[in-house]
Amino acid sequence: MISDKIIKAMNDQIRKEFYSSYLYLSMASYLHSKGFDGMGGWMRAQAMEEAIHAMKFFDHLIERGGDVELQPIEQPPAEWKSPLEAFRGALDHERMITGTINDLYKMASDENDYASRTMLQWFIDEQIEEETNAEKNVRMLEIAGESGQALLMIDKDLGVRMMPLVPSVKEV
Ligand SMILES: [Fe+2]
Ligand SMILES: [Fe+2]
Repeated sequence: MISDKIIKAMNDQIRKEFYSSYLYLSMASYLHSKGFDGMGGWMRAQAMEEAIHAMKFFDHLIERGGDVELQPIEQPPAEWKSPLEAFRGALDHERMITGTINDLYKMASDENDYASRTMLQWFIDEQIEEETNAEKNVRMLEIAGESGQALLMIDKDLGVRMMPLVPSVKEV
């Protein structure tokens, strides 16, 4: 049995993950508009990954007999001062999301909801990776500073990221 409290919190998390997807898509659009197609491609892949995260919560609710209630998704910012500022925004956002995942895990623990706890463990591990990648990107861009040459190298480097496969979406 999944409690109403966890159902509500997971529905909120679906909104947050789709908002993450929207935010990264907006960052992708900004970066493409500035000519950084590699960085834009990286953000695009990240946006797809966030939609997959949302679907993991969606599937968990369905499997546990909890009602999915989709909520409106807020409009993300559209402009940043520089690629570095966009990637700093991504890092701040991931840190915030880590906090929400930790809160969910605590809630599942307090309620002895072991199934949710196991599912959330995946997200705890995932957030370590998300923060590490975001920190790495920020550090690279800080080193590059105003150097056009260094920025183009980073753009090329980030552009090799592949689009994620969609492993979590169930076949119906
Ligand atoms: Fe996520
Ligand atoms: Fe994320």
